[in-house]
Order: sequence, then C-alpha cells, then structure tokens
Amino acid sequence: MISQTLREARRTEEVLEKLIGKENRPLFHLSPRTGWTNDPNGFSYYQGKYHLFYQYNPYQSHWGPMHWGHAVSEDLLHWEYLPAALAPDEPYDKDGVFSGCAIELPDGRMLLAYTGVLETTDYDGRRNCRQMQCLAVGDGIDFEKYEGNPVITSDMIPEGGSREDFRDPKIFTASDGSYRMLTANRTEPDSSQLLLYRSTDAFHWEFAGVFADNKGRFGRMWECPDFFELDGKGVILVSPQDMLPDGFEYHNGNGSLCLIGSYDPATETFVEETNQAVDYGIDYYAMQTILSPDGRRIMIGWMQNWDTVGIRDEKDPWFGQMSLPRELRIRDGRLFQSPIKELENYRCNKVEYDQVRVQGNGIITSAYSKPEDVTRGLHLPGVSGRCLDLEVVVKRPEGEELFNKFTISLAADEKYHTNISFRPGESIVKIDRKFSGSRRAVIHQRRAQAEMIDDQIRFRIILDRFSMEVFINDGSKVMTATLGTRQSADGIFFSCDKDAILSVTKYELKM
Ligand code: FRU
Repeated sequence: MISQTLREARRTEEVLEKLIGKENRPLFHLSPRTGWTNDPNGFSYYQGKYHLFYQYNPYQSHWGPMHWGHAVSEDLLHWEYLPAALAPDEPYDKDGVFSGCAIELPDGRMLLAYTGVLETTDYDGRRNCRQMQCLAVGDGIDFEKYEGNPVITSDMIPEGGSREDFRDPKIFTASDGSYRMLTANRTEPDSSQLLLYRSTDAFHWEFAGVFADNKGRFGRMWECPDFFELDGKGVILVSPQDMLPDGFEYHNGNGSLCLIGSYDPATETFVEETNQAVDYGIDYYAMQTILSPDGRRIMIGWMQNWDTVGIRDEKDPWFGQMSLPRELRIRDGRLFQSPIKELENYRCNKVEYDQVRVQGNGIITSAYSKPEDVTRGLHLPGVSGRCLDLEVVVKRPEGEELFNKFTISLAADEKYHTNISFRPGESIVKIDRKFSGSRRAVIHQRRAQAEMIDDQIRFRIILDRFSMEVFINDGSKVMTATLGTRQSADGIFFSCDKDAILSVTKYELKM
C-alpha cells in the first residue's frame, strides 16, 4: 500500500519534472527529478540495472522533508527516473527518511536500509531527536516498510554514543554470508565512531562492536560510512563534519575521508594504516560505493557540500547533483580514482595536439587576473566546449627553465572563466571558480598538493554543463567543483609565465 505522503510526492515530481528542460540539467550527472537532492543512497545493482536512490525533497530546491528519490541506469551515465521510493510517512520516520543503502535478498527482493528520524518535544518544551535504522522491502520500484521497524533502536547504542546522531546504515556481507551493518554515531562530547551490527537474515540485528573510532581526529560527526576490501586492503570511506584543516590534505568544514588499513575478522574491527582525503576540490561529500557485476569498485558522491549549498539560486527548479561514478583502486597505499570506463563510449570528435609550445608571457596570472588577461592565453582550434573529456599533459621544455605557473582556463568567455593552475615549485594545483558567475560568498578556490612525475603533470578533466572533475596524475588526486557559468562560455585557454610543452586530447561527450 502506498501512503498518501508518498503518493503526493510521486504526483508532484511527475508534474514538476516536465517544467525542467533537458538542456537545463547536467548531460550525464544525475540531478533530482525535481527539487533538492543531497546524498546518494542505495547505490546498487539489481536485476540487470544500476539503481541509485537519493536524499530528496521533491517540493522545493532546498533541504526539507527527506524522501528517497530513485533512478536507474544501464551505464551509470544515462539515468531514467523512477517514482520516489520512500517518504517520511510512518510514526518512526515522520521527520525524515535519511541516508542508507540497498542490497538484494537471497529471495530476489530488494532491501533498503535507511535512518528513520523522529523528533518529539518534551513536556518542558525541549526538542528530542531519535535516529533509528529501518528497513523497506520491494521489487525495485515499490517498497513496503518492514513491520518490525525500527530494527536498530537507540537502545542498541553502546554507552557514550549519541542517540540523536546515529545514522546512515551501510550493509555488507561477511565471508560466511551473514550480514554486517555499519552506522555512524556521534560520541560525546564531540567525536564519532562507526558501530557494527550483525545479522543472519538482514532483519534481526545485534550489536557487534565498535568498528572504527575517530578519536577526535577527523572532524566531529562522521556521516555516510562505507567499508569494502580492495586490492588487498580494507577501506573505510566517511564524510566528516566540522573538520579542521591539516596542510593541504584536509580543509575546514565538511570533508571526505578515506582510511586504508585492514579488516580483522577475529575482532571484527578495522585496523588503520593511512588516511587521506577522497576529493580535494570544493563540492564532494557523502560518497558510497558498489561492486559492479564485472568486479569494479565504483564510487559516487554528492557533487556538493553543505558548506557550499549557499551557491544555490532560489529560482532554480532543482539543486544538487551526483558526481561522475568513479572506479577505485589502491596503489602504493593510496586511493586512486578514474572516471568509469563507460564514459569512453560517449567520446566523439577527437581533437589532438601533440607537443605544442605554450609561450611564456612573463605574467603569473593570479586569482585577481581580469578575464581579458586570461583569454589572452593560447587557444587551440577545436579545443572548447562544456561537455568534454579533456586530457592535458604539461612538460617543461627540455633543457629550459621550469615555469612557475601554468594555467588552464575553461568555461571561459570575455566575462567568465574557471582556472586550474599548477605551480611546480610549490607542488600545488589550485582550482578557482571565483569568476565562474557565482554571486555568493562561498568557497571558490581550493588547493591540493601534486607533483610532476617524470617531468610532467597529467590532467584529465571531465566537464559537464554544471561541473568539472579534475583527475590529476592518473587519479591520484581528484578536485571537483560545480560551475554555474552560462553555457555559451565554452572557451579553453592555456597560459604560462615561461614556455611549457603541452599535449592535449579533447573529446566531446555526447549522450
Ligand atoms: C549527509 C547527511 C546524512 C543524513 C542526510 C540527511 O549529508 O547529513 O548524515 O542521513 O544527510 O539528509
């Protein structure tokens, strides 16, 4: 039985979707059917298709009563909307159906695990919030909430854990086929832990232990945990709130964190070895992964960040988009990411330049350079556009002095541009969207550490209408940012203070 609340959401999205022209959405990044989205949810492969659910307010383009929107895809690039899957329509989740995951049950049904949010007011007027883990079962389109909900209540949190911040279940299977559920939990006063629960049937759960502990290091509350094994390592992904900066690795605010180590099956705990950021750009959060049928670990994130949602324009009929799905691997103890290989099927109109000399103009462009200065850079005929897969390799000319700063300006016209610049002397790549058309005082720049390898630095830049994702040195670092620049600004320019040698391969992406 579909509740009135869900029926209303489904009716609304059907009507409002028609008001949004295709050209006003990203070409291949998933945006909400209408209204607002934040986290990806329930990323899974079920009955021959990839399913992606998402935190969803179908009524307005800002955060509100959380539903789960739903879309399916065969290639992770063309998405077809399905009716909203979950609404806040039960007494235990009336204040929100928060993030979670999806798995296939042995009997072929699809199981959604999510956080039900319930707010109450005490007799003395104090607000109380409870977050509990809940389930819904369905056929991949319609879902029934489980009559035993909530399956994990705040009574099943160990001492010291917050009952208010206990959310974002992620289920994985243990080697004996039984289930494990990871959830994020605030610890008093100001840190967080990942709690592990155990079940043989995915419906009845018991507390298994503390899987990992932040110990006050990486932000306060961790959100949206994921755990998987990859290339012989155990990997935890979480999205910490309220981080403090640490060199160029972590920055203030909401971040993305990857812990690499191993899973100890005897104690069911995670043994940490190294840590790093997942994305070094501006707009990336709440990522989750799946194992594709052909064995790839694929990650998708919310291509936005709570600290930058202020960039939203009140008039926008939709807000929030998902990142490009990325293939993960662990190499030399680090997380590497690359665009999913399916993207290559949509490359066309190749334009290639090999070993072109960019003439140094003696000017080190700065964030304050005027657009005229930037568009004075080198333009390579045929290298322009806003939906592109662009590879750029930059080298120092043999036997000549190394440049101080090399810049790629994209989404550029006489008024706007966004820069990716590299300073080899400082080993810094910076993205800067200050002149992208944003009218809000949110973060517009970010830096990451990157070096030349064998005297060259490599960029692979994926542009969609409203975003850029910059993969540096084969994906050892990725910097992501949304761009609100008008679509007619499609110029690309290269500039450098001293000479540099450039190889460029551009493909248009057509879906
Ligand atoms: C992360 C998050 C999750 C929560 C959801 C609510 O962005 O805060 O922890 O489940 O968003 O929409």
